[in-house]
This record gives sequence, C-alpha cells and structure tokens, in this order.
Amino acid sequence: MRIGYQAVSARNSRPDGDDKTVKRHEIDTAAEPMEVPTSDRGVIQTIRDFRADILKATELGWRRHGDIVKYRLGPVSVYCISSSELAHEVFTNTSLYGKLGPDNPLRLVLGTGLLTSSDHEVWKRNRRMMQPLYTRTSIEQMYSTMQECVERMLVRLDHHAESADLVDMHRVQMQVTLDVVSQCMFGVGVDELGDAAKPESVEHALNFAFDRLQNPFSAPLSWPTRTNRRFRTIMSEFDEYVYKLIADRRNTEPGYGDLLDMLLGARDEETGEGLNDREIRDEVMTTFAAGHESTAQTLTWAMYLLSQNPEAAARLRQEIDTVLDGRSPTAQDLRDLKYTAQVASEALRLYPSAPLIPRLVARDCTLGGYRLRAGSRILISLFNIGRDVRHWDDPDEFRPERFDADKPIGVEHKAYAPFGAGPHICIGKHFATAESQLILAGLFQRFDFRHNPHHDVQTLASITLRPRYGMEMIFRPRTDRASRMRTESRSHS
Ligand code: HEM
Repeated sequence: MRIGYQAVSARNSRPDGDDKTVKRHEIDTAAEPMEVPTSDRGVIQTIRDFRADILKATELGWRRHGDIVKYRLGPVSVYCISSSELAHEVFTNTSLYGKLGPDNPLRLVLGTGLLTSSDHEVWKRNRRMMQPLYTRTSIEQMYSTMQECVERMLVRLDHHAESADLVDMHRVQMQVTLDVVSQCMFGVGVDELGDAAKPESVEHALNFAFDRLQNPFSAPLSWPTRTNRRFRTIMSEFDEYVYKLIADRRNTEPGYGDLLDMLLGARDEETGEGLNDREIRDEVMTTFAAGHESTAQTLTWAMYLLSQNPEAAARLRQEIDTVLDGRSPTAQDLRDLKYTAQVASEALRLYPSAPLIPRLVARDCTLGGYRLRAGSRILISLFNIGRDVRHWDDPDEFRPERFDADKPIGVEHKAYAPFGAGPHICIGKHFATAESQLILAGLFQRFDFRHNPHHDVQTLASITLRPRYGMEMIFRPRTDRASRMRTESRSHS
C-alpha cells in the first residue's frame, strides 16, 4: 500500500503568517514502499532544535515534509507522526509498535511500571490487576477524598485572594493534583510527603530523563556531573520514601482499599506469587508521576484559556452555579457539569498533556506505505493532530462547545486522543476527568481571576506540556450570591 502526498488547500487559521498548508495521504495499493521524507536538519541541529523546542521543531517538520518525517538523532532514527490514521495504527498494533526498551531513559525514574514496561505479558498482568481501581464506580467512591484536597487548595488560595497576590497557577495545580493522587492511591497527603516527593522533585527527575530521550549524547549517568549528582540524590530520596511507604503498609492490616493495598495483595493466578518490592515501587512511582502532572497541566492551560476567553468563562461559571447552587458536587452533579468537562477536553486538544508519545518499531515494516526500520523510534504528535485543519474548524480557537455534539468531527476522524488509544490508553482517564471537574468547580465557585497580562506564556514540552515560565494569575474572592452560599454551607457543616 502506498500513500502519496497532496497539498490540501484549506489552511490553518493561525495569524502568524506561516505557511500552514498540511499534506494528506493518497493511497496507491500497487506501489513499492517509499522512504520516509527526512528532515533537512542535520544530526547536531536536530538535537539542538529538539532540546530548544521539540514541539516547534516537529510542527515545522510536519508543515514542511508531511505527516511522517524522519529525524536523525545520532545512532537513533525517529519518525514523527502527525496523521490521526497512522497514529491510530501505531497505537493499536502493539506487537509491531511497542514501548521503548531497556534504554528508555524514563526507566531511570519510573522503572518498569505500566507506562514504561516493554514486556507485554507483565504489563498485561499488572494492568488487569490495577484496572478495577480505575472504573467509574470505584472512582466515584474517591470523590469525597478528592473534594477534601480541593477544599485544602481553596483555603491555601483564600489568603492570596484577599491580598490579590500574584499566584503561579501551575504550582497550585501541581500541588493539588499530587495531593489528590497520593491521598486516593496511597492514603498520604501532600503535606506528609516530605521533601522527597515534592512536585518540583518529580518534575526535575522527569525533565532529566526526557532530556536524555532527546539527546543520545548525554553524559553517562556514572559521570559525576552536577546534573547527574542532583538526579541521583533526588532518586535515592524518592526510593527511600517509597520503600518505607511499602514497608509500613506491609506491617499494617489491609483495609485501605487503595492502590497500595491492591498491589500488596495481588497474587499471580498460576504461581500464587505476589509482586516484589521493586515491582510495587515502580507502579507507585508511575502512578505518582503519571497521575498528577498531566492533570495539573490540563487545568493550568484550561485556566489560561478561560482567562483569554471571557465568554467561555462566563458560561462555565453559569453552569457551575446552576448545577451546584453553592454546594459541593455529587456524582450526579459531575454528570450534569457537561460544559465543565468540555472545557477540560478542549484544553487537552490545544495543549495535550502528553504531546509526543514514543514507541519502538519492533520489525522492519511499512506504515501508510512508508518503509520503517526495526529499532527506530516513533513519536506520535498529539499536538499536531489536535491542531490539524483537516479535522478541526479554526483549530487554534478555544471552543469547548465543539464537544457538544455526540461526535465532533475530530473524534470521528480519531483525531482526538489526548489519553492515547488502543490497549495502552490512559488507565486514569475517568479519574482525571472527575478530578478536573471538581477542581474547576471549586475554583469558579469561590474566586474571580485573571491572568497577569505582563507575564509571558510559552509552551515547554517535556514529558508533559507545561508553561515554560509558569502561569501567573491574580485571584479575588467572589462577592456575589452563589459564592456566599458555598462559604455559608461550608461553615455550617
Ligand atoms: C488529563 C490527565 C491525563 C492525561 C492527558 C493522560 C494521558 C495519558 C496518555 C496519552 C497515556 C498513553 C501513553 C502511551 O500510550 O504511551 C497515558 C497512560 C497512562 N496514564 Fe495517563 N493521563 C492523565 C491522567 C492520568 C492519571 C490521573 C493517572 C493515574 C492516577 C494516569 C496514569 C496513567 C498510566 C498508569 C498510564 C499507562 C497505561 C498503560 O500503558 O497501560 N494518567 N496517560
């Protein structure tokens, strides 16, 4: 099967004057596989481009060369994919396009938990074991714990709102989402985590690993460079903390009903063996890391987008006031907070928390008529796919109502996959959706806010897509009726 390129006349609406023409596939089943177009940037330049701004580099490559582009990173070739159909094929064919192997730098932090395991059987066993905790019903039982974390965040913000301080929304979200995941999954709050598991430490460790993913010429970890030493210190503090958490729980009666209980109680159906401490540590680290940053980035970008789109913010506030009437949300309320969920979905389309998803090509093969070599890496660009004019009208505009219809066009085209797709689809999707609704509802019930217009907003793609310089906002207490009701009902309870 062969896919050729043809320029599409429709153009992206971005006003920066760049040529946003994209290319689409035409299938010619008779032809020989073609070579993937190679980026015209050399190896060193590509490494520099990626480290400076990998999103910009891969977006330019897409505009220039099409939906599949080969980059050379020294010994490693990377194919960047920006077509929803090809992405879907990669996501669903896990035997041909697997997770990265033992040289995956993310393993330095996460070990071989669900996100980084390349052993399909072990991954399947662990996924099956953890899945029951992530069903909608199980997650509903976590709402009250999530809500307590939201209340703590609101109290922390109260003080800043009274004095109209500048607040870094990104930090606020990193803290509340870490609190939520550690309370719900391991029964410890963010205040008890100590220095080892601070959001900044998790972020630093993941950045370190991501940098090694983009730069095959990184100094070996054994070299005593300042960066290596700092990374090793962070990781040994993490490990000490997590192994103690596991040991303490082993010495306690089960009954928390959380992820840690589940991991400790799991038994192999055939051998009856449980997971060892290292395996549990890896799943704990994975859940800490995957379970808070992505949601934090989604909410940070959502708040930014709402600050720039007052009509959407007003509609959101109205929905929250109407549905909740000043109360804390129940499970039924979350089903009714439809626009709130759409705001998070639209923020994820424009700023997918996992903008570039890596895979490893297991065998020589063809994808969309192109020849792919075994051992090469793939990066699926959810960022490019979410802004593709072939799937989305005015793709750069923030319009949560796109998700009003039962199936918006981008979803029909499989162009909406911020949680991934296929067997590795995010296990925490429902968890993150409910959490995002609870946090947005809490913030909108209690505060008015605006973005600091003097603050520079830029993207920085690491493992997640975060604002490069944070997100400065000013909060003020709401003074109207709906907000007073919530404050009063809280003081009576
Ligand atoms: C808005 C929030 C979130 C986004 C956008 C997101 C996105 C993703 C994506 C794209 C993947 C697929 C990665 C791949 O195919 O290689 C993934 C996997 C995963 N996510 Fe999330 N995630 C979010 C929240 C969460 C939460 C809250 C948790 C846990 C509490 C979580 C845990 C995981 C795990 C364990 C995996 C690996 C699944 C597997 O391979 O079986 N995520 N996530």
